[in-house]
Amino acid sequence: MSHLFPTYQRWEIEPDKAEGTIIYGKDGQRYLDFTSGIGVCNLGHRPEAVELAVKKQLELFWHVSNLFPQSIQEAAAKKLAEETGLDCVFFANSGAEANEAAIKLARKATGRGKIITFMQSFHGRTFAGMAATGQEKIKQGFGRMLETFIHLPFNDLESLKAEIDKDTAAVMLEIIQGEGGIHVVTNEFIKEAASLCAENGVLLIIDEIQTGVGRTGKPFAFQHFGIEPDIITVAKGLGNGFPIGAAIGKAELAEFFGPGSHGSTFGGNPISTSAALAVMEAIFNAGFLEEASAKGELLFDLLHKSVGGLDIVKEIRGLGLMAGIELNVEAQPILAELRKSGLIALSAGEKVVRLLPPLNVTREEVEEAVSLMKSTLSNYKVTV
Ligand SMILES: Cc1ncc(COP(=O)(O)O)c(C=O)c1O
Repeated sequence: MSHLFPTYQRWEIEPDKAEGTIIYGKDGQRYLDFTSGIGVCNLGHRPEAVELAVKKQLELFWHVSNLFPQSIQEAAAKKLAEETGLDCVFFANSGAEANEAAIKLARKATGRGKIITFMQSFHGRTFAGMAATGQEKIKQGFGRMLETFIHLPFNDLESLKAEIDKDTAAVMLEIIQGEGGIHVVTNEFIKEAASLCAENGVLLIIDEIQTGVGRTGKPFAFQHFGIEPDIITVAKGLGNGFPIGAAIGKAELAEFFGPGSHGSTFGGNPISTSAALAVMEAIFNAGFLEEASAKGELLFDLLHKSVGGLDIVKEIRGLGLMAGIELNVEAQPILAELRKSGLIALSAGEKVVRLLPPLNVTREEVEEAVSLMKSTLSNYKVTV
């Protein structure tokens, strides 16, 4: 028997090695990885620049604790501040922990209790992350949730206007709901939400854990809309596989996160921050992001042409290299067929196939993936 708790439904492929967009299985097969480790390996598997940065740090020191000043941490924080237009960073180890930091900071800074989040959202598996998440299935069996969180319909301005009040600390949302089905925020909603927050002294928290670090073609997805969030949270792609999360906020929030107010033993450790710095240096430059956007356009263009017209396909949604194909059938059996054909993809909700290829995926790999998608979806027999 496995000695792991069965929290994950594992796939049948055990990776042997991986490079770029390709995973080689112990079964001897080559697979196109259009999951990037669930939106993590944005530079593909084992990018050289990240490997070199980590190796360099491994030879200096691995862990000394946050009681010491560490230039590598400062450098990563500076880069995040420059790219987000925000000022201060708290480093954590994961997305859920970054959200915990943001939630605690918003409540302390405003002295208010309520946080508004949205239906189909996903904010992590810690107790507050789970309570913040707008999906019942994530909460099943865990008993009473924290009362802090109110869930509203996504992209619905009227309900937001009605709910914001003097006890609202923050509005927290994803620009594209990733786990919840690839639902993109509307321009009108996000702009109005930002104004409503500003008018009511409510902090706007953008959860960029899946959408950040170039995934949508901009450094951060909120930058498509010209808004200025108070806090953003980042994780996944930031370390390209080395565990790191970050809550990044405005300078005026710094006084509420003073010494002893929050912490993490491993948060911002030098191995992960050296990886993050190398990742940001590679991704946050105009040339790289233009290329990634062009690959995103190619992906959507080919998907629309090849599978958009099939009966089984309801809608294709997304931005940059974050794509969702909503089907009229359950996604899981389709994912199993795709894996047999050599393409590894994700689901998002029950009926959406989600594609998150590395941002440096090649044109040929995009063409190959869409061609496998087309043959799998065209040949799929719906059994009732
Ligand atoms: C938008 C969003 N927020 C939070 C999380 C939680 O991140 P982690 O699994 O690193 O705790 C995820 C993970 O899928 C996510 O997509």
